[in-house]
Amino acid sequence: MAPEPDRITGFVLVVAAVAAVAGILFGFDTGVISGAILFINEEFSLTSVMTEVAVSAVLMGAIIGALFGGPLSDRVGRRSSILAASLIFIAGTFVVVLSPIFSLFIVGRILIGIAIGVASFVAPLYISEIAPEHIRGALVSLNQLLITIGILIAYGVNYYFAAAGDWRAMFLAGVIPGTVLLVGMFLMPRSPRWLVFMNRPGDAGKVLQKIRGTADVSDELGEIEKSVRTEGRGTWSDLFAPAVRLPLLLGVGLAVLQQATGINTVIYYAPTIFQFAGLAEATASIAATVGIGVVNVLVTLVAIRLVDRAGRRPLLLWSLAGMGIAMLLLGIGFALESGGAGGAAVSLGQVTAVSLIVYVAAFALGLGPIFWLLIAEIYPLSVRGLAMSLATVTNWAANFLIAATFLSLVNLIGESGVFLLYALVALLAWLFVFKLVPETKGLSLEQIEAYFRSRKRPGG
Ligand code: BGC
Repeated sequence: MAPEPDRITGFVLVVAAVAAVAGILFGFDTGVISGAILFINEEFSLTSVMTEVAVSAVLMGAIIGALFGGPLSDRVGRRSSILAASLIFIAGTFVVVLSPIFSLFIVGRILIGIAIGVASFVAPLYISEIAPEHIRGALVSLNQLLITIGILIAYGVNYYFAAAGDWRAMFLAGVIPGTVLLVGMFLMPRSPRWLVFMNRPGDAGKVLQKIRGTADVSDELGEIEKSVRTEGRGTWSDLFAPAVRLPLLLGVGLAVLQQATGINTVIYYAPTIFQFAGLAEATASIAATVGIGVVNVLVTLVAIRLVDRAGRRPLLLWSLAGMGIAMLLLGIGFALESGGAGGAAVSLGQVTAVSLIVYVAAFALGLGPIFWLLIAEIYPLSVRGLAMSLATVTNWAANFLIAATFLSLVNLIGESGVFLLYALVALLAWLFVFKLVPETKGLSLEQIEAYFRSRKRPGG
């Protein structure tokens, strides 16, 4: 008979899909501000500093949410944390939509950020703890798929309400996925691994029976209980224990690298980059930006198909190679243009479009989904919430720093300098992955934990 974790039930797919709706909240709020900001500017007559605050308030909220989300998800559980996040998200959205003054708008955006900070990692965490191991990569990456779909939905919503200049309606649309997540998660079970962690193995067994579709879940339950017994309950200082040191370095390192390779300068500033490249018409650069959003979704689907077959490492290495080459091309294109090679057969606009599309495709194939997947797999249960929280705080803080410095960096070292810098970071990231990231496909979370303790693969 096949071991229980190999079984795929319709129920486990539904549970993963519902939790992944958290990704829509993440993506929607990443994308919506770019369309709304013009009108917000007008209504509240913002200075450029105030505009920056309006754009980055969500990121600051996300840093706070990610920090508290770890202890929260260990204490009240994964499911309750996602429920709390969806409530805060809906409340924050109403504060934004109804805000008569700018300061209230900022409060609402920070609330939304807090919710996203929590949900951004508790959703992948929850999915990884309920997923059968041989499709865990695909199920956890559903969250990334819905991030990319959320970004695309935001572009659509922005476009739809732009004619009327109705920025409040743009934000209000977020209530729909927020409510789907709230009601959906209410109906979902708790994480069986968290239940064992809370010393409730009986309840954990019942959940496992339901999600695995079999009465005999004793092997899986036994493995989880064993790992909880060996590890106990972790605190922040346990993050520095020898067995956690490498996973900690991997999580924090990949968090920085996922952002420092420049993805959000493309997501947030694609129209601006196209304008740098001479695509003056706003409609053309917006069409090109939507194209990037579509590629992001489609290639994430490809990654979902491949991640449990090819494995995490090859996808990450191909991804980083592609991103690096695309940034190199972009950097060279801009350098030639400013060097006066303007009359070349291929225009800078075309080079820019091709490079950005290759870049986003390469990101979606690996670094996008696999960062969130790996941080949901590599930590021992005893410190999983805290360690993921730390990696996620790092990711949001890096997101904030890169977004905040992009335009000043362009002023300082020019467009080509910035893109070449991102290419260099991609090279460093490739070496980091090549040297340090182990393959986790097909292993149970408990086997991964044992690997980091002994540095030996099961059976190897
Ligand atoms: C990253 C986000 C990014 C998104 C784009 C996510 O994995 O964490 O910062 O905006 O991918 O698809």
